[in-house]
Amino acid sequence: MGDTINMPDKKPNILVIDDEFSVRQSLQFILKDEYNVLKAPGALEGQFYLSSHHVDIVLLDIRLRRTDGLKLLFDIKQRFPYIEIIMITAYASLETIRDAIRFGAFDYLIKPFDINELLSVVRNALIHRINKINIKNDLDKLRESTLYLEHLITTAKKTMINCSEVNMTAMLLNINSRDGYTWEHVRRVTKLSSLIAEKMRMQDEQLKWLKCSALLHDIGKVTIDEYILKKDSKLTDHEYEIIKKHPEKGVEIIKSMPFLENTMHSIRHHHERYDGSGYPNRLKGKSIPFKARILAVADAVDSMINSPVRQNPLSIDMVEKELRLHTGTQFDPEIVDVVIKEKLLSFV
Ligand SMILES: [Fe+2]
Ligand SMILES: [Fe+2]
Repeated sequence: MGDTINMPDKKPNILVIDDEFSVRQSLQFILKDEYNVLKAPGALEGQFYLSSHHVDIVLLDIRLRRTDGLKLLFDIKQRFPYIEIIMITAYASLETIRDAIRFGAFDYLIKPFDINELLSVVRNALIHRINKINIKNDLDKLRESTLYLEHLITTAKKTMINCSEVNMTAMLLNINSRDGYTWEHVRRVTKLSSLIAEKMRMQDEQLKWLKCSALLHDIGKVTIDEYILKKDSKLTDHEYEIIKKHPEKGVEIIKSMPFLENTMHSIRHHHERYDGSGYPNRLKGKSIPFKARILAVADAVDSMINSPVRQNPLSIDMVEKELRLHTGTQFDPEIVDVVIKEKLLSFV
């Protein structure tokens, strides 16, 4: 109740807590023209007024009978931080006043009062209170606006992600409609890559990005003509050069979606070879990103078993032989080891 702002057309309320009747009376006399004065002879009565009335300013005797004035000051400030408290003291004890200011008193007055000083201190306290409440209100509004903005950003991000997912799916379906292979291919590559990564104890966050990269690794093929995608005879050098551009084309597509940034390296390098003879950057060994090395194995395995442009799809045993044959040249030996030891080919 006490910690609200008074209506502008009403007189501000001042609560005087002082055990001397004459002090309460004289303060009321001085202040009554500009303020409503509530009078409390002790801490209990004071607390009652604070709980039941609107109070702007408290004039508090530092030495109340049976009450520690400083403790009462502290309690009031805890409950009503926007009420300004002016301490009243019969003498100027610097130490007590310093404690009062430290506990949150706005100012102090020494008895007997100088009327002009009293009015000036009370007015300043009131201005201080109004300023503090205005700042609080501005901060509340700012907080509300910030929350609303954050909500808008989150919604916009979700919408953007949904739109991007729709776009990506449309691109994959577009490629699939022309090669009859990519839609299922990326799913099988995602599955095998995830199995390899789990066996190699990849952390969850990285695993999430690996799966995302696997789904999108061939997205750049959306830029390639159908006759090249479906060609089941040997590609010409020119056609092969066009095919080799799909990792970088994929990265260009992903660049328009900053929230997929973590997939870029894996997409760009999924056709690098362990001996440095791959593309697009001829990276070698462990300088090829780990997720891209996993994708390279999973991609090749699925291609050997399921690619429609292969003349002779390979059996699981033959794929295993191919992996062993090309370990350390095309593939990372550690990853090949995991695939073979854990019998992961049976899951493709
Ligand atoms: Fe690829
Ligand atoms: Fe692929």
